[in-house]
Amino acid sequence: MNNQITILLSHPNICNSIFNKYLVDINRKMPNFQFRHLDKSKVNGYFDLEAEKKLLRESKALVWQFPIYWYNSPASLRDWQDQIMSPIVYSADNFLKGMPVRVVFTAGAAAEHYTHEGLNRHTVEEMLVPFEMTANAAGMIWKKPLGFFGCSPDMPKAALEKAAQKYKDSLLELL
Ligand SMILES: Cc1cc2nc3c(=O)[nH]c(=O)nc-3n(C[C@H](O)[C@H](O)[C@H](O)COP(=O)(O)O)c2cc1C
Repeated sequence: MNNQITILLSHPNICNSIFNKYLVDINRKMPNFQFRHLDKSKVNGYFDLEAEKKLLRESKALVWQFPIYWYNSPASLRDWQDQIMSPIVYSADNFLKGMPVRVVFTAGAAAEHYTHEGLNRHTVEEMLVPFEMTANAAGMIWKKPLGFFGCSPDMPKAALEKAAQKYKDSLLELL
C-alpha cells in the first residue's frame, strides 16, 4: 500500500519551533500523510533500518522538511541519508527509484539575501544542490523545493496562515 506521502522532519529543537511546528500540526490532520520526526527516531544515534524501510515502502512520495541551519539541513536528515538511503540505493532492490521527493525548508533570512547580489551570495537552488544530487543519485524525482523566508518567532499569525496554505497545496500536489 504505497499511497502515503511521508514527511521526514529534521528539527533538533521542535519544542521551541514556531514555523515547522505550525506546519507539522497541519499535516498530522491530513489523510494520506504520515509524519516522522527524525530527531526522535534514533536510538543511540542510529535509526532502525527495517522500520525506516517499512515506512518508505508504504510511501508514494517523500518530503524532506527542515529549518535551514548553516545553509544545510540539521544533522538528523544527513544521518538518515547516510544510514537509510545508502543501504537501499546500493542494493539490488532500490525501491526509492522513481519516488518523488520535495524539500520544504524554513529560513531565518529574507528571500532577497538568497541571491547572487544578496548577503548569502548564492541562490536557494545552489544551496540545495547536494540534496538534488542525492535525489538524482538515488533515481528519485526531484520536485521544486518550497521555501519560507524571514521565519522568526514574531512572525504574524496572518503570515503563518498564508504559508500554511502554500504548504498544504504543495503536499497535495504530491498525492
Ligand atoms: C543553529 C542555527 C543556524 C541557522 N542557520 C541559518 C542559515 O544558515 N540561514 C538562514 O536563513 N537561517 C538560519 N537559521 C534560522 C532558522 O532557519 C530559523 O530560525 C528557522 O527556520 C525557523 O523555523 P522554526 O520556527 O521551525 O524553528 C539558523 C538557526 C539556528 C538555530
